[in-house]
Amino acid sequence: MKIVHVASEMFPYVKTGGLADAVGALAGVLADRGHEVSVFLPGYRAVLDHKDAAAAGRRLPLKIEMGDMFVSGDVRAFSPRKNLTIYLVCREEYFDRRGLYGNGERDFEDNHHRYIFFVKGVVETLRLLGLQADVVHAHDWQAALLPVMLRYAERRHGATLALQTVFTIHNIAFQGIFPMGSFPRTNLPMDLLGIDGLEYYGQVSMMKGGILFADRVTTVSPRYAKEIQTPEFGCGLEGVVATRLEDLSGLLNGIDPAVWNPSTDALLPAQYGADNLAGKATCRGELIRQHKLKKDLNGPIFGMVCRLAEQKGIDLLLANADFFAANMCRLVVLGSGEKRFEKALADLVAAAPGLVSLSTRLDEGMSHLIEAGADFFIMPSLFEPCGLNQMYSQAYGTVPLVSRVGGLADTVIDADENPANGTGLVFPPTAEGLRNGLERALKLYRDPTRLATVRRNGMTRDFSWSGAAKAYETLYQDAL
Ligand code: ADP
Ligand code: GLC
Repeated sequence: MKIVHVASEMFPYVKTGGLADAVGALAGVLADRGHEVSVFLPGYRAVLDHKDAAAAGRRLPLKIEMGDMFVSGDVRAFSPRKNLTIYLVCREEYFDRRGLYGNGERDFEDNHHRYIFFVKGVVETLRLLGLQADVVHAHDWQAALLPVMLRYAERRHGATLALQTVFTIHNIAFQGIFPMGSFPRTNLPMDLLGIDGLEYYGQVSMMKGGILFADRVTTVSPRYAKEIQTPEFGCGLEGVVATRLEDLSGLLNGIDPAVWNPSTDALLPAQYGADNLAGKATCRGELIRQHKLKKDLNGPIFGMVCRLAEQKGIDLLLANADFFAANMCRLVVLGSGEKRFEKALADLVAAAPGLVSLSTRLDEGMSHLIEAGADFFIMPSLFEPCGLNQMYSQAYGTVPLVSRVGGLADTVIDADENPANGTGLVFPPTAEGLRNGLERALKLYRDPTRLATVRRNGMTRDFSWSGAAKAYETLYQDAL
């Protein structure tokens, strides 16, 4: 099949979170399975500077209609492996910035202009290159207007650009909402602005467009597919999701074994596998050294790697701040995001030096070292569409502590409820829930035989993308 993915992030080119890992791995595995895969990304500086992009060929100039003006840009393409072509939709003014979506304090005010330009650039490139796709697969709010734009562009040009469209919701909490006054920039018909169209509480929601207009809608775990039908998790779009139930499915992400595999991971000081954990001990030692943690303690090391956002349950962790010093446990946090969380965690470090450590940068190597060197990995998310680190943790023999929501509940088996097959500890998404998880983790740590079983169960599970990729192939074929 000819499959076109459209997303704002893709590992290894540009990443702020799991979207990048999911798109990078899915595109790669579909290419390996013989499909002709293209991925469209905005031409961010990080991608243009990547060594693979140096091979990008001739630029295709673009003139994009945005309301009553034309905005220029260009498209560059390179092919990092067989069957895979990356197209970069470029315009310096929009994409050559330090952050992707904001400056760390606030979102950029022109995000809607940037991503309207991006999706229009995709449509225009498909048209100019005559790239008729079997499936155009758009990911998250940044690409959500694409299914809408494609349908209108096809009508206008009398040409088929995509036989089918798929829209994947990686996180319904981010919708790409913008003021109605900017709607004319889309050049879509004004009658789309009604409540049955893209209108969302007096504004415009890009995500709503993706959900309404794609032929198929997916999200990234079966449980999240159910959760987004409820007011608690649907972020105001539960009613819209309800109109698409026949075309909605929840397909779990996998993990990319070329990137996340402890027996081959070149970012670690030592490699290891389920039958020989000596390398894991080396990684633990290196984690202690790099984070200047106290060495002579018997307790476990807890790790956490995430965006510092409310979603990730940072408040629940802070509510349990006393746990670590009281039990002489160490905690290593890698994450950046909201300043209030960075500040509160920095206070925690100051109050417990040698026990708690915080790094507020994006550091791929460090994220691997934490996954490998910690004993437990904490993910007390309030909601989690899929979540990847709990899967990485299991593969790395690091027992995940997760709240019972979304993809976390779908991928972690509680070791107390299911001693034979358990791979982690699962609790309600509350401060007391996390406390209970931390206390159960201490008990597990003091029982080496049981700990070894839980680790092995996690390490021998198959989370690879091949299963997930087959599920997407079936979905594409059904849609066609
Ligand atoms: P989300 O996409 O909601 O942020 P996921 O669990 O799906 O959550 O994916 C998060 C990804 O981002 C993981 O690969 C994780 O290791 C990575 N990550 C998050 N914060 C950092 C950081 N500060 N440095 C390196 N990697 C990070
Ligand atoms: C989103 C979600 C996360 C998911 C990722 C990849 O960022 O927050 O749960 O794992 O997308 O699908």
